[in-house]
Amino acid sequence: MANISLKGRDFLKLLDFTPDEIAYLIDLAAELKQKKKAGIPHAICQGKNVALIFEKTSTRTRCSFEVAARDLGAGVTYLDPSGSQIGRKESIADTARVLGSMFDGIEYRGFGQEIVETLAKYAPVPVWNGLTDEFHPTQILADFLTIREHFGTLAGKKLVYYGDARFNMGNSLMVGCAKMGLHFVACSPAEYKPSADLIATCEKIAGETGATIGFETDPIKAAQGADAIYTDVWVSMGEPVEVWDERVKALAPYQVNASVMAAAKKDAIFLHCLPAYHDKNTAIGREMCDRFHREAMEVTDEVFESPASLVFQEAENRMHTIKAVMAATL
Ligand code: CP
Ligand code: NVA
Repeated sequence: MANISLKGRDFLKLLDFTPDEIAYLIDLAAELKQKKKAGIPHAICQGKNVALIFEKTSTRTRCSFEVAARDLGAGVTYLDPSGSQIGRKESIADTARVLGSMFDGIEYRGFGQEIVETLAKYAPVPVWNGLTDEFHPTQILADFLTIREHFGTLAGKKLVYYGDARFNMGNSLMVGCAKMGLHFVACSPAEYKPSADLIATCEKIAGETGATIGFETDPIKAAQGADAIYTDVWVSMGEPVEVWDERVKALAPYQVNASVMAAAKKDAIFLHCLPAYHDKNTAIGREMCDRFHREAMEVTDEVFESPASLVFQEAENRMHTIKAVMAATL
C-alpha cells in the first residue's frame, strides 16, 4: 500500500476509489488522529489555501474541514449558502475556474452530485464532496474508521442501514460496504431502496471484494447478526417540508429502538451521521414529534444515549478522515 498516491485527485464519491485507496485514507486518518492526540505537529500543507462552499448548512463537515485545514497549516475561506455569487449570478463552471485560480483545493456541499462533478471538471485543483443529495463520501470514511477502531476490522462485518436508503447515506454506505467487503443490508420499505443502477454497480463490486448487498423490509429480521446498526434523519436537507407526513408514516416501523438493538449481535454498535432527532430538544425535533405524537424520530433517546452508541466518536472521526482526504490530495 506504500506506493499509493492520491495527489491531485478529486474526492467526489467512493465509487471513484479502489478498496486499497480507501484503506489508505482510513490508515492515514488513524495516523493523523494519533499525531493530533500526541500533540505532534503535522502542518504538511503549509502555504496552501482551501475554499469551503456550503450551499446547505453544516456543523460537523464545516468544522472538520476548518480545523483539519488549520492543523495541516492551510488557510481556509468559508463561503456560506448566501454569501457568494454561486448559482445565482455565476455558473458552477465559472466559479470553478475563479476559485481554482486562487485556491489549492475546494470543498463543496450542496444539492445534485452533477454540481460537484462539474466543479471538479472545471477546477484545476482537487474538489472534495462535503455532501450532495446522492453521496456523502467523507462521512463513510469516518464511519469506517469508527468501526475499525471498535472491532479491529471492516471486512466481514454486517452493517444494517435503517431508513430512506434512496438518499446520500443509504447510497454511500452501500458503496462503501461493497468496496470494503462488509455485508450491507438496507432495511426500509421496498420503494425506499437505492436505484437499480447503483444496486447493480455495488453487486458487481461486492462480487470482487467478498461483500454482500441485501434488502429486508422486516426491521427485526434485518438486525439479526448485525455488528453495526445505522440510521439517518427521515427527511434530508433540501427536501420540502411536505414530505414529513409520507416519511413518518412509511418509516415509523424502521425506527432504531431497543428491540432492534436486542435483535442484533450482543456487541453491536449504533452509528448515526448526525444530526439526529432522538428527543425533543431541537426546534424541528419538537415540532415534528408534537405533530406526529412521537417522543423521537429515527432513533430512540434510549439507544442514542446507550453504551452501544458510538455517534460522538464517529463525529470526531469526521475531522481526522477529512484531514486525511486533504493531506492525501493536496
Ligand atoms: N454528518 C454531517 O455531515 O453533519 P453536518 O451536516 O453537521 O456537517
Ligand atoms: N441525509 C442527511 C445527511 C446529513 C449528514 C441529509 O442530507 O440531510
